[in-house]
Amino acid sequence: YTPKILAFAGSTRTDSFNKKLVKIAAQGARAAGAEATFIDLRDFSMPLFDEDLEAREELPAGARQFKDLLLAHDGLLIASPEYNSSLTAVLKNAIDWASRPAPGEAPLGCFAGKVASLMSTSPGALGGLRGLVHLRSILGNIKVIVLPDQIAVGHAYEAFQIDGSLKDPKQQAEIASLGENVAAIVAKLKT
Ligand code: FNR
Repeated sequence: YTPKILAFAGSTRTDSFNKKLVKIAAQGARAAGAEATFIDLRDFSMPLFDEDLEAREELPAGARQFKDLLLAHDGLLIASPEYNSSLTAVLKNAIDWASRPAPGEAPLGCFAGKVASLMSTSPGALGGLRGLVHLRSILGNIKVIVLPDQIAVGHAYEAFQIDGSLKDPKQQAEIASLGENVAAIVAKLKT
């Protein structure tokens, strides 16, 4: 059995630090034997959630694709930028779309029982830690198993190298270990 892990950031920005961060965690998951897929939320066209749109015959294509990807994976790696001490609207919007079952789908099927590790990075000293408090709470309420270890990397402009890795090898290994953790727990739960 190969754990299948979906990795994404709550930022659509081309040079997003959080995209870089979650790719490091995804590498860690792969090193631990998992299949890890990075997706960029920019590639999923999801309008702002609106129950009138949801009531139409078909979900917006991006929302449907995102839901299908979640359904096909057992683990999640999420790097969440902090906007005004919370998660980004992009990430909350994606969670809201995916949290709603289509007729015939299991409630919270995209999230219930999935194993997640959270991380964040920002130019500030706290690295976006306050946003992770909100994200952890939201995911817990929709039945995601959020692992206790999480890391916020501060001073993002100084922390990353041009190739996307972290300058500090210890920090790089810690972020990779978040991916290893998800791979290990998913493997345990599934066997
Ligand atoms: C921010 N930023 C920010 N940073 C932080 O540490 N705490 C905060 O509360 C906020 N608030 C905030 C609000 C808004 C509207 C923006 C646009 C930005 C800065 C943020 O961390 C920075 O832009 C990061 O680079 C965003 O992450 P990505 O896109 O690099 O992954």
